[in-house]
Amino acid sequence: MKTLEFSNGDQMPILGLGTWKSDPGEVYEAIKIALEIGYRHIDCAAIYGNEDEIGKAFKEAIDSEKVKREELWITSKLWNNAHKKEDVLPALKKTLSDLKLDYLDLYLIHWPVAFEPGVTFPDGNKGFLSLEEVTISETWEALLEAKAQGLVRHLGVSNFSVKKLTDLVSTGMEKPEVNQVEMHPYLQQTELVSFGKIENVFLTAYSPLGSKDRSENIRRPDEPNLFEDETIKNIAKQHGVSSAQIMLAWHVNRGISVIPKSTNAGRLKQNLEAADIQLTLEDMNAIEKLNRDYRFIDGSFFTPEGSPYTLETLWDE
Ligand code: A2P
Repeated sequence: MKTLEFSNGDQMPILGLGTWKSDPGEVYEAIKIALEIGYRHIDCAAIYGNEDEIGKAFKEAIDSEKVKREELWITSKLWNNAHKKEDVLPALKKTLSDLKLDYLDLYLIHWPVAFEPGVTFPDGNKGFLSLEEVTISETWEALLEAKAQGLVRHLGVSNFSVKKLTDLVSTGMEKPEVNQVEMHPYLQQTELVSFGKIENVFLTAYSPLGSKDRSENIRRPDEPNLFEDETIKNIAKQHGVSSAQIMLAWHVNRGISVIPKSTNAGRLKQNLEAADIQLTLEDMNAIEKLNRDYRFIDGSFFTPEGSPYTLETLWDE
């Protein structure tokens, strides 16, 4: 599988397995199958509530020598309630303990949004902290300390705009190496792609298939369905593959890492195989025309009335 190479020579497999919405009860089996069929990059997060179970599958695979720890690329993310400098290390250590690992390959600030310690999700507008009360720089300094201690190999962010990345880079501290954002043919993130090329910040695409398994409260009834897109369907037909595979191959052909979620054995296999599909220039150009800057995950759950966050300040658009 193609990899993205970091400045120290470490290599991240370009296609990984997403675990958001993978329920405890099925994620253990999914990870076990994924490792068996060849996935080596797994994307996790504390807030997904399934790291303990994922960790059981990691431990079993490593202990039984089916896979070596150093062959795996494991990412996790710091939740919004642990942005204060004294809360970062404990949160990371909890994730490491749940995943049953000594170190992470990559640790990301999950959102440029902070909550009060202990608040999993604010009730209405109660429980938010503004980015003036706890700055991204403060969180980043604590993450650099975790890296210095050897608990993480690489650091990055998620859901960051070009403006927020620029602000972080301009502090002069070590730069984030990855920005993980929603990306698919309807949200092509061209500004972030250009910025990443200039500043050497890799992108990882989440919700590459539109995350149709989101819960009702974070779905809109009128949202588009990537699977019904005629252009994608036609390209899939020409290549004799599925629409999902075309959506995934598009990222790989752009040099962007992608983390489709599945807990189904057949779809896990199909998605992994998409990393080897070579799209033509014509295919790429046709997909490029599909952009409509459409976010399935627009972050509005962080912007109730009275919250210090608005959609404008979240995305800087
Ligand atoms: P399942 O887990 O049952 O396979 P995203 O990665 O954008 O979050 O999308 C995940 C959703 O897409 C899940 O509902 C997942 O279902 C489904 N999915 C994953 N792979 C495929 C595929 N190859 N074809 C169709 N649906 C898929």
